[in-house]
Amino acid sequence: MIERIGIVGGGQLGRMLTEAALPLGFDVTVLDANENCPAAQVGAHQLRGEITDGAAITELACQSDVTTWEIEHIDTRALEVLALKGQNIQPEPTTLAMIKDKYNQHLFLEDRGIPVARSVSLGRGLERGEIASDVNLTNASALFGGQLIIKSRYGGYDGRGNLKYNGESAEELEDILGRDLYAEQIVDFSKELAVIAVRDTAGRAAIFPTVETVHEDNICHTVTMPADIDPRLDAAAQEVAHETLRHLGGAGVFAIEMFALDDSVFVNEIAPRVHNSGHLTIEANETSQFEQHIRAITGMPLGSTTMRAPAAVMVNILGTRDEPLSRAGLEKVLALPDTHPHFYGKDPRPARKIGHITVLGADREEALATARQAREALAV
Ligand SMILES: Nc1ncnc2c1ncn2[C@@H]1O[C@H](COP(=O)(O)OP(=O)(O)OP(=O)(O)O)[C@@H](O)[C@H]1O
Ligand SMILES: [Mg+2]
Repeated sequence: MIERIGIVGGGQLGRMLTEAALPLGFDVTVLDANENCPAAQVGAHQLRGEITDGAAITELACQSDVTTWEIEHIDTRALEVLALKGQNIQPEPTTLAMIKDKYNQHLFLEDRGIPVARSVSLGRGLERGEIASDVNLTNASALFGGQLIIKSRYGGYDGRGNLKYNGESAEELEDILGRDLYAEQIVDFSKELAVIAVRDTAGRAAIFPTVETVHEDNICHTVTMPADIDPRLDAAAQEVAHETLRHLGGAGVFAIEMFALDDSVFVNEIAPRVHNSGHLTIEANETSQFEQHIRAITGMPLGSTTMRAPAAVMVNILGTRDEPLSRAGLEKVLALPDTHPHFYGKDPRPARKIGHITVLGADREEALATARQAREALAV
């Protein structure tokens, strides 16, 4: 019987996982270096340590009945060793290791017939003075008709580590020099979609309705459920999510980001964890992505993903400056119908995700309009 859950990382995702786990009677410990991290504030025990520290991860796993994570950029080797020694780690650490290298993940999907954009390796970094780099870049550009986006294989998030290529020489690409890079052909998508898929330890799957995600400055800004798309496109997105999940090992939530074409989709990337595109499931669905993840990794049956309202919209709250959190305007937000703000207990910094607001409504337009009103009313 699983009682103690260990989570590597105690940020907002760890916090919302904790909020789902505690009412079910589980005991949660998070590994996080920051004192009184967001998850600890809502009742998780905290082990102070770096998420990249294998010894700290081992300590966490040894005091937990099952160990999971809220972020990819952690010591995967330590997790792989722990799993080999018989510790219960979910999902499978080998899946995390595969996904963590974005180029490797891309090839993994391509090899299994999952539609992805064309891609090519740019070798080990565009080191200054490395003539081959410019050759690689020129070749990649020619291959993709000049339409390419350069991505770091490791450690990217919120678009950091990505760069749209505009014909610069390797020398001019200061920001990404010396990293492991690859290039993807730019996809002329009509929308960005995401599907949250989850599998339990018995191998049963649950798939949430398709959402539309809108990014601003590479950061997820608005999420709408269900996505406003043709039923055929929706069927394609759901099918690709099912198919992708089949190739991922272990129990838990996987978020599958997609680009929508006319009536087909490309997978952009997979997050082997709960995801920003699923925050609205807390109010919008009978079982949230967080509760599904907890159910999945603890060997419990999954819940229903049915929507509780015809439409839901989530907007992120990003910090604007380095100042203590102001909740000025909260009274206006709370006066709006079926509107649910969430603050993560993080200090604001420019572009830092510090909270989100979810609105349920009779239709998408109504929910979107209310969500906009709510976001504008709040001065963070
Ligand atoms: N091949 C592509 N064609 C067109 N747009 C792309 C492509 N790859 C990425 N983008 C755009 O850049 C955004 C961020 O890319 P990606 O998902 O690779 O980065 P990330 O740093 O992992 O972001 P996040 O943390 O938000 O998931 C995508 O959501 C999309 O808007
Ligand atoms: Mg992404």
